[in-house]
Amino acid sequence: MDELKFNKLFAGVLLAALLLMAGIKAGQVLVPSHHGHGHGGEKVANAYPIEVTVVADAGTAVAAPAGPEPILALLAEADIAAGMKLAKKCTACHVFEEGGANKVGPGLWNIVNAGKGAVDGFGYSAALAGFGGAWDYQALNAFLYKPKAYIAGTKMNFAGLKKPKDRANMIAYLRSLSSAPAALPTDAEIASEAE
Ligand code: HEC
Repeated sequence: MDELKFNKLFAGVLLAALLLMAGIKAGQVLVPSHHGHGHGGEKVANAYPIEVTVVADAGTAVAAPAGPEPILALLAEADIAAGMKLAKKCTACHVFEEGGANKVGPGLWNIVNAGKGAVDGFGYSAALAGFGGAWDYQALNAFLYKPKAYIAGTKMNFAGLKKPKDRANMIAYLRSLSSAPAALPTDAEIASEAE
């Protein structure tokens, strides 16, 4: 081996060693070890949980729903008959008549403005039973858009009504299922929902 070749080889080995060391350093900086200073006292066995956390956060962010679009302004002009047709999507699980029995889901007569999880004799999920509040128009809009996004852990297995018009028609139909239908939203309520 002549001297030039040897020098090149030596330089190559040196460069490789430097890159390796730089790589290890960078690794320590990017994925710090948590020995001796775990957050809030929880034990961090190694650096990998950090990456797992980052992935989980990204997933949640992506899954966050973009909707539901406001529907209060659509209610006064909504099509109750169209809502009644849409209700075929619900009748596998729900009965709509007054005094109707609970099936897979609770009876839905007089549901607008009723307390959440308040139908007698129905075994609600803990998630819905503990959610609180009433089924006002906006709660129904959010729930019917994507039940599991509005109430995480609900046992209502229904993908949701993605079109604002469908939700408005459905909610107008639900509103009609009462001996004293709830008041339509006021202009002020419509304006504040749109904000
Ligand atoms: C596959 C069955 C299924 C379908 C389809 C379904 N639901 Fe439900 N629904 C349920 C169950 C089960 C619950 C109770 C959820 C819980 O306890 O978490 C529920 C709860 C509800 C509630 C809350 C009732 C209360 O008393 O708090 C409303 C409102 C509702 N459903 C409306 C609808 C509408 C409107 C449709 C159709 C567009 C529909 N659901 C389709 C099963 C279903």
